[in-house]
Parts: sequence; C-alpha cells; structure tokens
Amino acid sequence: MKILAFESSCDETAVAVVEDGRRVLSDAIASQADMHALYGGVVPEIASRKHVEVIAGLTEQALRDAGCTRADIDAVAVTYAPGLIGAVLVGLSFAKSMAYGLGVPLIPVHHIRGHIAANYLAFPELEPPFLALAISGGNTLIVDVRDYTDMEILGATRDDAAGECFDKAARVLGLPYPGGKPLDELAQGSKGGVYRLPHAKVDGAPLDMSFSGLKTAVVNLAHHAEQIGEPLDRAALARDFAQAVSDTLVPRAMEALQQTGRHILAAAGGVAANSIIRGDLERACAQRGCKLYLPPLRLCGDNGAMIGAQGYYEYLAGHTAGMDLNAYATRDIAD
Ligand code: KG4
Repeated sequence: MKILAFESSCDETAVAVVEDGRRVLSDAIASQADMHALYGGVVPEIASRKHVEVIAGLTEQALRDAGCTRADIDAVAVTYAPGLIGAVLVGLSFAKSMAYGLGVPLIPVHHIRGHIAANYLAFPELEPPFLALAISGGNTLIVDVRDYTDMEILGATRDDAAGECFDKAARVLGLPYPGGKPLDELAQGSKGGVYRLPHAKVDGAPLDMSFSGLKTAVVNLAHHAEQIGEPLDRAALARDFAQAVSDTLVPRAMEALQQTGRHILAAAGGVAANSIIRGDLERACAQRGCKLYLPPLRLCGDNGAMIGAQGYYEYLAGHTAGMDLNAYATRDIAD
C-alpha cells in the first residue's frame, strides 16, 4: 500500500511516499529554518505562507522521486495535530484536496505518533509494545506504546518542551535558530561542571518534568554575567545545560521502564539528536539490559516519511477521516 504523506506542523514542509508503513520511496523536505533564523524563532504566519508556496511543487517532487504517478497512490496521510494551527491547516487542506481528487482514503496522523513511528522506518524489527521518549520542539513525553495506535502518556513536561528550552538557551549563548544543534556542538568543547543549574522535580508525579526553571536560570546567568562584565564560559554553560536536560529525561525514562516492566525504549523527535542525551540513554539502557532504539539524525527532526509510517498503521486500525476533518493546535497522543 502506497501512502502519500504530508507534514506541515511547524517550519518544515514535508511530503513523502511510504510503502506498507516501513519502506520510504521518497521523502521531500523544504525547511524554512533560515528564514525564521532572521527573527530568532518561528514566525507562525510566515511559516503558513511558506507552506502555501511550496507544498504543490514538493508533492510533485515526492511523486517523481518515488517513481510514482498520482494513480499509484492508495491513501493520503496528514498531520492534523498538534502544531502551529495556521501551518497545520495548510498541509491538511492540501492533503484533503489530494485525497478528494484521487478518491482515496484520508488518514489523520498525530504529529508525535509520527515521530515515534520514525523508528519503524529505521528498525524493521521494532514492534510494539515499547516505551517511547518523545522529545521535540513542542512536546516532551514518555509514552507507553501498547500497540501501533494504542498509547498512554506516562510522563510529560508541565511547562516548556525540552526543544523550546534548548532553543532559548542557545539564543542567550548567541547561537542561531534553531539552537539545539549548534548548542550541542558548542557543548562538545567542554567537560562542564562549571555552572550549577536547577533540576526540577514535580511533587507526586515522578515521571513528569519541568524545564521552565532551567531555562530561566540559563537566561539569568548569561544576563548577569553580561551586566557585571564577567566572562562567560559559553561551552561549559552549554555542556552543563544539556547535561541538566539529559539528567531530567534519562532517569525518568529508566523509571518508566522499571514501572511498566517494558524492555524496549525508542527515542523520537528533534531533541533525540542530542549527543549527550543519546550517550546517556545508551549507557543507562545497557546498564538495565534494555534494548534502545535511537533513530538516525535525519529521522529525528520533522519529516513526511514518519507520517506515512504511522499513517499505515492508523489505516489498518480503521482510523480514516471524512472531508470534515479539522486541524488542532493541541491534541492528546492517546486520543
Ligand atoms: O522534532 P522537531 O524537528 O520539531 C518538532 O516537532 O518540534 O524538533 C525540533 C527541536 C528544536 O527545538 C531543535 O533545536 C531541537 O529539536 N534539536 C536539538 C538537536 N537537534 C535539533 N536539540 C538538542 N540537540 C540537538 N542536536
């Protein structure tokens, strides 16, 4: 079954053709990151307008790269939530028109379910049940993936997402948007241990997380140093910050494995590209004797193929939508 998949929830327009949920025939991506970098973050209206401009051409490219014509497409999958609402609406409206015009089923896909499904593309042997650590620009979740379309949130951030925190910390360190990758590179130049940063715990909810205090601490530290003219060890601050994020995520993921008795952990989302988090997850899982799946970097960030992968399993579960499908800025992964 060939699925034409669309992703437009933030600043990447992505269109892919995926066969039977596991084989990527094409994966076309147009990133707008350079444009948003001028403003230090994503400007929602600009994002929507760029999606409008490129989505039709990108669809032609995805079909061409896959060696397909429109007649070969069996279904259309699309991110319908969560994300920047104007941006999601562009992809959703285009995908609807495509499904309507071709007379094929329309499959709604939750963006974070898509991130988790990126693992199915990289690891053919991976099947539920497993735990997922989904860490992206807008979401930070520990998810029990009981089956391909049956999920439960075990832990979540109570405020900022890990990626949002990386981007803000990177900004005060003078790094370009999106800041996660350059901050990761800067951190590699230091062993850290210089700055004491907060590690928040949520009372009575050991698997939940909070990143806003950490974000504020880094911002205050950098501003204070500037005000009093004290030199800032930028590499050490980047390193200590990334370590503090990892020290929040990794022990909770291990605790979730312990609580559920699961033996497989899959990482997902843009922040799963972070070298410190990847290293810490590898060590912690090896220590517990658990199998860890870390998607290759190109599958961590937003892409269309992951939507095609999850779309296949949503289709098998009978989750198709009518032409009245709407877009949502927020939506529980379990819905
Ligand atoms: O999954 P993603 O591409 O988009 C969302 O669905 O949100 O994640 C984007 C986030 C950004 O905050 C970006 O700075 C972060 O992932 N990111 C990283 C790294 N690469 C990307 N964060 C930490 N370390 C990295 N190497």
